[in-house]
Amino acid sequence: MSTESPKSFHIKNYGCQMNVYDGERMAEMFAARGMEASDKADADLVILNTCHIREKAAEKVYSEIGRLRRKDGSSPLIAVAGCVAQAEGGEISRRASEVDIVVGPQAYHKLPDMVDAVTRGESSVDLDLPGLDKFDTLPRRRKTGPTAFLTVQEGCDKFCTYCVVPYTRGAEISRPFADLVDEARALVDAGAREITLLGQNVNAWEADGQDLGTLIRALDRIDGLRRIRYTTSHPNDMTDGLIAAHAEVEKLMPYLHLPVQAGNDRILKAMNRSHSRDSYLRIIEKVRAARPDIALSGDFIVGFPGETDAEFEDTLSILREAAFAQSFSFKYSPRPGTPAATMDGQIAPEVADERLQRLQAQINAQQLAFNQATVGKRTSVLLEKQGRFDGQLIGRSPWLQSVHILGEGLSIGDIVDVDIVEAGPLSLKGELLMQVAA
Ligand code: 5AD
Ligand code: SF4
Repeated sequence: MSTESPKSFHIKNYGCQMNVYDGERMAEMFAARGMEASDKADADLVILNTCHIREKAAEKVYSEIGRLRRKDGSSPLIAVAGCVAQAEGGEISRRASEVDIVVGPQAYHKLPDMVDAVTRGESSVDLDLPGLDKFDTLPRRRKTGPTAFLTVQEGCDKFCTYCVVPYTRGAEISRPFADLVDEARALVDAGAREITLLGQNVNAWEADGQDLGTLIRALDRIDGLRRIRYTTSHPNDMTDGLIAAHAEVEKLMPYLHLPVQAGNDRILKAMNRSHSRDSYLRIIEKVRAARPDIALSGDFIVGFPGETDAEFEDTLSILREAAFAQSFSFKYSPRPGTPAATMDGQIAPEVADERLQRLQAQINAQQLAFNQATVGKRTSVLLEKQGRFDGQLIGRSPWLQSVHILGEGLSIGDIVDVDIVEAGPLSLKGELLMQVAA
């Protein structure tokens, strides 16, 4: 059965910033075909750009598919993209016959062709992991806000025992140096003032004999680009060159997301993290020597199989010892096909819940303390959006804190100097000095 070619599209993103980037690139492809972005309820084509990292991801996708059915019983064209698509594959269309397209994270550049195939009455599944092909066929970047994402690296070879990423995103692969400088320039021409380099293991980026530190130094030379960030890093790939960039490149913001996951060596080993508590602490010592004011952020997993109370205490103590400014914490969630899912000693949910609560209480306390320590400081803020009140704007400090400002005649994208006058757990209040060159 053939259908009419869709004229409008809606992309629903789940999960990480890499999915946000992929979603933007998909939107650009459809816009280049003359299709309009629209609300989920009205779109002819709905793309669910899914995440598989934790809990019941697939179940959420199936229930969302059910909700896409319209009142008259019809459905839009439905594409399932992202990591659930990669992990579940053809199973998705078998379980949910409404799904027309299943496309993995490395094949989404073929979406327009796949949509054409569906309109001709063919079903379409593409779960190739072909590496970098997609970047060559995506349209040039033309639209962005003041902050933009740029995927430089994809995939993961680390095989932490709890994690699905190496299976859904494939092996570590780096985009070529020149392509990245080119895309960064296009983003700046389109209005970006800050670029966040993205990769599952962004600091493993390596191409044409260069490492991430060199790429950052090259981007530093782009006029009009004011801030550079990168995420997510693996401790083992924190090279001396990258650490030195934190000391030398002014545009590189003093913020590092460096997941540690746990504070106990036996657990780190069972997780196959390939760093120890001490080696992690030594790395951040070097980073702090290069950039003393750096804000460190982490990811933590509680309730990994076999984790004892005492081992969990080591997680609480590394959180304090490393003085994390911000952290993301998760209850261990068994992922089908990963080694940890079948390990002995799976932890009872009540125990994991209790550990998570204790961890989060300490994370929040540290975050508040970090924010309070910025009160009285003078700093720059990149304005990203309007606030809830008249004349209020919200931006980010160099340390990625959200800062609320009142001011006349300011625009999104301005970088302003403020005095931080108040701090809460989630945001700061800034008072405007004079405007820095916009
Ligand atoms: N269970 C819980 N948390 C997980 N993460 C990855 N896999 C799992 C899992 N199976 C967390 C890690 C990682 C972050 C993106 O998600 O902390 O750094
Ligand atoms: Fe997953 Fe570990 Fe790779 Fe991070 S480094 S994506 S946690 S396997």
